[in-house]
Amino acid sequence: MTKSDIKLIENTKKFVKQSLEKAEAGHDYWHILRVLKSSQKIAEQEGGNLLVVTLGALLHDIADAKFHQGDESVGPKIARDFLQSEQVPEDVINHIIKIIENISFKNSLEGQKFSSLELQIIQDADRLDAIGAIGIARAFVYGGYKNNPIYDPSLKPNLNMDKKTYKKGNTTTINHFYEKLLKLKDLMNTPTGAKLAEDRHRFMLEFLEQFYKEWEV
Ligand code: ADP
Ligand code: NI
Repeated sequence: MTKSDIKLIENTKKFVKQSLEKAEAGHDYWHILRVLKSSQKIAEQEGGNLLVVTLGALLHDIADAKFHQGDESVGPKIARDFLQSEQVPEDVINHIIKIIENISFKNSLEGQKFSSLELQIIQDADRLDAIGAIGIARAFVYGGYKNNPIYDPSLKPNLNMDKKTYKKGNTTTINHFYEKLLKLKDLMNTPTGAKLAEDRHRFMLEFLEQFYKEWEV
C-alpha cells in the first residue's frame, strides 16, 4: 500500500467513526472495527485487494437501510460522495459501492447480483460478527431495539422468509437464530471464513441448549 493509501484509510476511519457516533450498539463503530479485523485476517489467507477490502469493510454499514426507513440508496450515496471527495479512482469507487449494495443478508434472500473476492471476504467477516457470543449480544440488542419478545414457544420460526418480511424484523430473538444466525455457517464464501465460523456456531448451539434448559425449570 502506498503512503497516500494509508492516509486515505486514516481519513476513512475518521469519517466512519464520526458518522456512526449515534449508531445503535449492534451497528456501531466497534462493529466496523471487528469486521475490518476479520476481513484483513481472511484476506491474509485468501488474497484480495487490500485497499478495497479495507475501504469496503470500513464503509459497508455507513447508512444501514434499517435505520433509514428501509431506504437502501442512502449508504451507497454517502460512500460515493465521501470517496469522490478523497479523489479515489472511479473504478475503485464503483467496486466499493457494489460491495455495499450486495453485502447484506436480506439482499442475499433475493439472489445476490454481484460478486468479487473482496465482497466475499467482507461478507464473511460481517457474518462472523453476526454469530458466536458477539452475534448473540447483537441479536438481543436489535431485538430490544424492536421491542421483540426474547422467546415465545408458541411462535414457530419462519425458515423461508422473503426480503420484505425479514426487513420488518417482527420475530422473537430466539427465532432469529433459526431464521438467520444458524444458517450463516453454511453460507460462508471462503474456506478461511468457514473455518472461523465453526467455533462460533457451536457456541450458539450451546447457548440455545442452556436457554431451553433454564426455560423449562
Ligand atoms: P445485514 O446487514 O447483513 O442484512 P441484518 O440487518 O440482517 O444484516 O442484521 C444485522 C444485525 O442485526 C445482525 O447481528 C442480526 O443478527 C441482527 N438482527 C437482524 N434482524 C434481527 C431480528 N429480527 N432479531 C434480532 N436480531 C436481528
Ligand atoms: Ni455489518
